[in-house]
Formats: sequence, structure tokens, C-alpha cells
Amino acid sequence: MYESLKNIEGFEISFHKKSKRIINIKIENQIIERLIFPFKKFDVVALEYKPFTRFTIAKSLDDITLGELGIFLNSILRNRNTGCFIIGPKDPTSKIDQTFLVKLSTAITHLIGNPNQDAMAGKYYARFHIKHEDDSDSYLRKAYINMDLHTDGTYVKEKTDWLLMSKLEEENAQGGETVLLHLDDWEHLNELFNEEAGKQNFIWGSPKSKNIDYKVEHPVFSEDEEGRAQISYIDQFPEPKNMEQGLFLQKLSDTLEESENKITIPLPVGSAIVANNYFWLHGRKSFKENKSLSRELLRIRGSFFNN
Ligand SMILES: [Fe+2]
Repeated sequence: MYESLKNIEGFEISFHKKSKRIINIKIENQIIERLIFPFKKFDVVALEYKPFTRFTIAKSLDDITLGELGIFLNSILRNRNTGCFIIGPKDPTSKIDQTFLVKLSTAITHLIGNPNQDAMAGKYYARFHIKHEDDSDSYLRKAYINMDLHTDGTYVKEKTDWLLMSKLEEENAQGGETVLLHLDDWEHLNELFNEEAGKQNFIWGSPKSKNIDYKVEHPVFSEDEEGRAQISYIDQFPEPKNMEQGLFLQKLSDTLEESENKITIPLPVGSAIVANNYFWLHGRKSFKENKSLSRELLRIRGSFFNN
């Protein structure tokens, strides 16, 4: 049922201790060291301006594993029973800096698919800081409020098949763990998937900071080619047009948040979560109040190469 674990030289691969649906991939130092030279070939500006350079560093990473890593990561993400992996250095003290992590995240995602332009950052990736103070207009940077379970890309036209979230920095942070829920573990899936409102079109808008000047229409639930439920949902952006849609969204939100099967993951600095965006929901617990709180995440979202 679950992904069979592979042996790849220089990687330690196991099921995550919180869930067999999540594959934990630790990169040993010998691999990190072999990446330093090829990663030095391009600076981050080159990666931003010249998309082909991203494929060059992705190929360097894949070549080190004789092409096995790319195949493995794609099979995890496309397998309905797993669909998620966490990847990072085995040795948390290894001397990798934020620039290295941007490149590593770029290399990993370019073994999976093409990134979408992140409208908030104007680049193929976005870095966002969470601090004590915040005056933004969405939950993304609000440290002391839970970010409820959601999928990404609900309000854009581009396909968002997968997402990567990489932790670049964290200081004075207590709480703020990533929360994940696999759609098939959600107690109310069948009930809500079969409600008429779940298949109606909803209008999805977004606040100013997202830099998207259009609205899109799509239902909350769709079906994959085998008839299994897929979800595209976030609490803040659908604009219900009547009582039926409003109450449906309320029920959806309540039953997702109340699920007993949510998985709470404290993501180490330097590690990245990569998940299939059709059947994994993600969120964030609130942080404990601290004036010196500082955390920076990098995100990349995109589509699969072959679909
Ligand atoms: Fe998100």
C-alpha cells in the first residue's frame, strides 16, 4: 500500500515517525559536499533570471544519485497513499547557508516540475518572514493566529500540483509547527465530497498583497482520473454567493480543523516539506508570543512535468 522505501547511496530514507504517508529523507554530508561545487556555478540572481540554470543544478543533484532521486521523489508525490516527503541535511550543524538552501530547494523542485511565478514575490519562489509585529492582510504572516488547513493556488489560474516549504531560519520560536492532513484520513471526506455544494463553482478572490487582479471560479472538490476526491480549498478566499455555499464552507472548515488525524510536524531548519497539493492540506499552529520571534520560510509551487 505504501511507497516501498528505496536505498539511495548517501541518503537515509525512512517513514516519518508521525505518519507512514510521509517519507523522511536525510541527506548525508558526503552528498552535501558534492553539491557545493556545482551549486557555486550560479548565484541566486542567475537562477532567478535564467530559468535553464535551475535545470542544470537539478541535474547535478540527480546525477549524484545516478538518476534515482528524481524518480523516487516523483513516485512518492504521485502515490495517493503517500504524496509527501520531508528532505533535509542529516547533520543539522552541517555548514549550509540560506543561499545553499535556496539552491537545494530549486534543484529538488526542478526534478518534479515547473514552478509557478509567485505573484507575491515576482519570482519563481517566495521567501517570507514571520515576526512579532505584522500589518499584512492575510494569515500568512500572523504569528499568533493558527493558519487553518488549506491547499495552495486556490485563487490563481496556474495549476498547483505540488508545493515545497523550506525552513531557512528560525529564532526564538516556540510553536508554529506545520500541520498536515491527508484527505483520505479526514473523517468527513465522504460526507462532504457527496454534498451538492462541494461540486458547485465558488468564486475565489484574494487580498491586495497577493498581487492577483482577477478572480477564479472552481468547485472545492474534483475527482482524479480514478474518481478519488481532490480538494482545492482555503478559508479566507472563497466568496460564498448564498446561504448554501456559506454553510457548506463553515462545515468544511469546522470538520477539517476538528479532525483527529491531523499530523503536527516540527520542521527542522534546513529541511523542506514537499506535498501533493490535491490530497494533502497544510496549515500552521500559532507561535508563542515572543518579541524576538523570527522565522523565514521559502516556498515554491508548481505543476508536474508530465500531466
Ligand atoms: Fe499554504
